[in-house]
Amino acid sequence: MDEKKFYSLPKLPYEYSALAPYISEEQLKLHHQKHHQAYVNGANSIFEKLDKARKENTDLDMKATLKELSFHIGGFKLHNLFWENMAPAGKGGGGAP
Ligand SMILES: [Fe+2]
Repeated sequence: MDEKKFYSLPKLPYEYSALAPYISEEQLKLHHQKHHQAYVNGANSIFEKLDKARKENTDLDMKATLKELSFHIGGFKLHNLFWENMAPAGKGGGGAP
């Protein structure tokens, strides 16, 4: 199997401890390394499944597969947006919420 990865987890634009005490280091790590990573893994596993089906010339339920792919890519993109919309106090032009 190729080691090709279609999606990878981007680094956060700040340290894991940067948003404390509002978001703890532990919570941010869990959310980024487990939850966001799960969308990356989910999308990549579908691309691998599609590659395998092409190589072996087998059929897939394309409607279900694409629905699942859309779910994972959506989760991936929304998490990127979420991280980019937060910043440590005093950075990125933030003020009072
Ligand atoms: Fe999340």
